[in-house]
Amino acid sequence: MIKKINTKQLRPRMYISNLNCAWLDHPFIGNNFMIKDAATIQKIIDYGIEEVYINTDYGLDVPDTSTKDKSRHDTAEESDSGPGKKPAGTKPVPLNEEIVRAKKIKDETMKTMKTVLDDVKLGKPLEKERIEQDVAAITESVLRNKDALIGLGRLRNIHEYTYGHSLSVCILMVAFARYLGFDSRFIQELGIGALLHDIGTIHISPQIVNKNTKLSEAEYETIKRHVEYGWDILEKTSGMGEISMKMAYQHHERLDGTGYPNGLKSDEISLHVQALGIVDVYDAVTTKKRYRASYQPTEALKMLYKWGGTRFDSSLVKKFIRCIGIFPAGSLVSLESGLLGVVINQGTDDLLKPTVRIVMNINNNRVIGMPYDIDLSKQEGRGSRDRIMSYESPEKWSLQPEMYL
Ligand SMILES: [Fe+2]
Repeated sequence: MIKKINTKQLRPRMYISNLNCAWLDHPFIGNNFMIKDAATIQKIIDYGIEEVYINTDYGLDVPDTSTKDKSRHDTAEESDSGPGKKPAGTKPVPLNEEIVRAKKIKDETMKTMKTVLDDVKLGKPLEKERIEQDVAAITESVLRNKDALIGLGRLRNIHEYTYGHSLSVCILMVAFARYLGFDSRFIQELGIGALLHDIGTIHISPQIVNKNTKLSEAEYETIKRHVEYGWDILEKTSGMGEISMKMAYQHHERLDGTGYPNGLKSDEISLHVQALGIVDVYDAVTTKKRYRASYQPTEALKMLYKWGGTRFDSSLVKKFIRCIGIFPAGSLVSLESGLLGVVINQGTDDLLKPTVRIVMNINNNRVIGMPYDIDLSKQEGRGSRDRIMSYESPEKWSLQPEMYL
């Protein structure tokens, strides 16, 4: 719902749909954006803007002082107690139940991506309805149990980098958006933007996109144009929201102005585009490419943490780490006891104590015939006093962790 409110009623996480003044009368890159912090509100007030329009479907509403109940848009940041609330009607289910549905959703979305991208390459219109259906299915699966699709998203064929990357970024973005407490309509739009964020690469020569060695300066300049091509494709697509279009256009912008295409800085990049930037980099560096090995998830999270405050908003990076866990679902880890296991559920209280599915005993180098689960957060029960010693490379042990999900 669009509401006109006094700027004194503004607070972080409200979504400005219109600043109610001419473009040249304010310092922001656009007329609509999510308010990140109190400094942004002060900036709006300092520019003499007294009233603005907010969209309560995309952000917080004005607090209802007649009741002590918190708004349905409340965020994880405000409660500061972990994941945002699930919409009514979405019940959490165990991993082994969700994984069956998640596999089908993954296969279906990969097929859709191939068809849609092939169509657009041939000059046909982008089939937005198909994309919408797949993103809705992904969102529902993530709400039931995010670890199923996050784990499966890591399993991919090296020859399908673009589709696999797009799908994985979509899954992580939906999970992150839900963690940040956005409402389901906004999450759906963010999921579409994430799935299509690199669609512009279809207009770039495959020899450059799939090059086995480091790109030359000229080739890098060519690659950078995928954000403009992406905007053009989505702009021509009937019913495509501006949020998804901006995600495709701005996902390589960085907080310190070192990104492209416009070198935007801090508040000029909306919160959800910053979130997409984090998710995109995380997935890209943890994915094996033809010319380089992948970083382990824990290493990738350390890199993101290091870039917090320069390329990325540090509090947003911390939230992402809390959202996916220090050992994300699908990670292979070794325990103090010498057992090797796959993280299947991060738990909520202690990111260092997820539930691990034991698949191998390093002490005798034997694969476990009947894998079993250990919840490291429990004080009692089988192996519950064990602890994670390190992340392990699946290649080193010739294991495919995703197969155990
Ligand atoms: Fe990109």
